[in-house]
Amino acid sequence: MKIIEVRDQVEGGKIAYDLVRDKIAMGAKVLGLATGSSPIELYRQLVASDVDFSDLVSINLDEYVGLSADNDQSYRYFMEDKLFKAKPFKASYVPDGLAEDLDAAALAYDRLIAEHPIDVQILGIGRNGHIGFNEPGTPFTQTTHVVDLQASTIEANARFFEDEAEVPRQAISMGIASIMTAKTIILLAYGAEKADAIAGLISGPVTEELPASILQRHEDVVIIADSAALSQYKNN
Ligand code: GLP
Repeated sequence: MKIIEVRDQVEGGKIAYDLVRDKIAMGAKVLGLATGSSPIELYRQLVASDVDFSDLVSINLDEYVGLSADNDQSYRYFMEDKLFKAKPFKASYVPDGLAEDLDAAALAYDRLIAEHPIDVQILGIGRNGHIGFNEPGTPFTQTTHVVDLQASTIEANARFFEDEAEVPRQAISMGIASIMTAKTIILLAYGAEKADAIAGLISGPVTEELPASILQRHEDVVIIADSAALSQYKNN
């Protein structure tokens, strides 16, 4: 695991951008993408660049259940807004949170990942150590699935909604096993509220109680974090 301490999101975005650009230059064809605030600067720099995605496929981590693509809180909307409308991919996949049969949609998503093995996976991290929407307690063997969101996640994500009551209670998320199939993983984390999760991820026990700790068993992970997010790890 490689740990890169950065001053701020702009520097973190630049380093992530350089890594992604190099991987594409070396032949990467499938990018696994994440939402949340942490990757926004990376997407901004990709949009400002001359990188061409028209021959690449993107596969997003997760989506809320019940939100349509034109709902500005949906993750599909976020990705269109932050990246896809400026930089179209050959195909961009986001789980279908409106599917009538969500379990079937989850199964189909894993088939999609098998058909398009992920070269580079971008990740953020939740305060409780979740990746995608894999909450603490999720088995490491889990593939794409329907998730009941934990109260702490609903509360953390409420800042994006007008009212906490509007935050969906369920999501469809790539599983931990699905994420671990990515050849390279780049995880971005900023701010003191991520410090416990980052300490556990880097140097805690590998436990399903902290989903991101599984990344210790992946052979090509880069953690890009600011000093606040790394503070607890450095205190240990
Ligand atoms: C949500 C997303 C995660 C993301 C996390 C952290 O729960 N499902 O993929 O990593 O938020 O978001 P942020 O980067 O805004 O802190």
